[in-house]
Amino acid sequence: MSEQTPNFKVTIDNISIEVPAGTTILNAARMIGGDVTPPAMCYYSKLKNSGGKCRTCLVEVSKGSEKDPRPMPKLVASCRTTVMDGMEVKNITSEKVVDARKGVVEFLLLNHPLDCPVCDQAGECDLQNLSYEHGSEATRYEFKRRTFEKEDIGPYISLHMNRCIMCFRCVFTADQLTERREHGILDRGDHAQISTLLGKSLDNEFIGNVIDVCPVGALTDKTFRFKNRVWFTKPMDAHCNCTKCSGKVRLWMRGEEVFRVTARKDQWGEVEEWICNDCRFHKKSVSDWVIEGPSNISRSSVISQGHYAGNIGTAETPVLIDKVIGKKPKLTLDIHSISDVNRPEIELSKIEGPAHSDDFKKNK
Ligand code: SF4
Ligand code: FES
Repeated sequence: MSEQTPNFKVTIDNISIEVPAGTTILNAARMIGGDVTPPAMCYYSKLKNSGGKCRTCLVEVSKGSEKDPRPMPKLVASCRTTVMDGMEVKNITSEKVVDARKGVVEFLLLNHPLDCPVCDQAGECDLQNLSYEHGSEATRYEFKRRTFEKEDIGPYISLHMNRCIMCFRCVFTADQLTERREHGILDRGDHAQISTLLGKSLDNEFIGNVIDVCPVGALTDKTFRFKNRVWFTKPMDAHCNCTKCSGKVRLWMRGEEVFRVTARKDQWGEVEEWICNDCRFHKKSVSDWVIEGPSNISRSSVISQGHYAGNIGTAETPVLIDKVIGKKPKLTLDIHSISDVNRPEIELSKIEGPAHSDDFKKNK
């Protein structure tokens, strides 16, 4: 007869839950949900051995267990610490944790460039969200930020090493999802960097998933680069019959154009099912997909600001402006006819690689 795993009772921020022995504090907190859950910049439940690198998930253990109620002497990484029976944990109810998290954010931002206005990850960047919630307004750092030479790692993925926070997620993804690992971490300490080994490009069929796991804008999709802001796009769940992956994806659309294809993510920002490069980089037409409907986006996300259920704004639907404002407008202008900036005949999503100013030259 197989032995059943015993259940341990753990209390996090005064909320108790019973979880199987071996569960980490972070996962127990995720089972409770809401604000009780510590942020995680390096842990990824779908990747073996992830966690323990960024320290954003620190918590205070105020009671070790029923048998040994002594508190733990230091804050612990909740993604790497398993619960004990009777354990009591403080996350947002601990001043020490709130203060330490502020310090961790400051450390993560020491070398991170503040280039959100030009970064493709803006609006869906975990570090941006973390610093809004836990960071300070100014930096105390007086030295020059660490910078790296630009490196080309292949036709579809852009590596911007200056933005990397060394969470190791991409390395684990490449290691665990693809047969040949061609990139990794070179050097140590302040010089450590993600790089391709022997200058190889990352052309494995599932390597595009490193873009989705990267919590910052260090790894981005070259086919989407500079073409749109995520909060202007409309995420839609869609699927196709793919022989390599499940084919279940999220399309980032504007009107009838598919600007980007990513894997679907769960409430913790983790990929639900890995997708292949074909689905991600090559199927950019609506006809490639069966559209299921608008994706569920967290209300706190900036992406949800322009995210409506239904098809408002697509080519087939009428513009409902008089219904929205309650009367007929006196005057409406078509922005494309009065502005030189907008060129509706240029389909951004069809441009190979990143969009460039040359793509908008009048005689093109
Ligand atoms: S490139 Fe992104 S995923 Fe890879 S280690 Fe750096 S921050 Fe993490
Ligand atoms: S999420 Fe726990 S250390 Fe990074």
